Amino acid sequence: MKKILIIIWFISLLTSCTYDSEEALYGKCDTLNVSYSTVRPIFEANCISCHNQSINNKGIILDTYNDAVEAAETERLRKAINHLPGVTPMPYLMDKLPACPVLKVTVWIDNGTPQ
Ligand code: HEC
Repeated sequence: MKKILIIIWFISLLTSCTYDSEEALYGKCDTLNVSYSTVRPIFEANCISCHNQSINNKGIILDTYNDAVEAAETERLRKAINHLPGVTPMPYLMDKLPACPVLKVTVWIDNGTPQ
């Protein structure tokens, strides 16, 4: 009985040590059919606290589709999230987001900001 418990404990130890996502593990980034619903969670986690209807630094609003499209159309969104020259890099005073979310937002803009 004790042995079994130890085995169960050991297995749970092994499986608890997984990566955050498959993407991190396999280096894959799903950029098929990227839409606003794909990029919205990225904005929510990293941007919307400073870019919403009431707080909109430099007029950038990311919590509605139309406003996010407007930000994308000026090319400032692409430059800011990719840390390209000409704009203040985002998220503000923080490291660039990991490659996959940056790529998703970039592909979303490249594909004409589908809803
Ligand atoms: C902690 C608050 C904060 C967060 C989080 C944040 N921003 Fe900003 N953002 C700012 C501020 C402040 C400015 C204005 C910077 C300036 O005046 O140079 C700004 C400006 C911008 C601009 C315009 C840049 C320019 O120079 O024209 C874009 C685009 C932008 N943010 C997008 C984003 C995106 C995308 C994210 C998430 C990945 C994000 N921001 C996260 C505070 C934030």
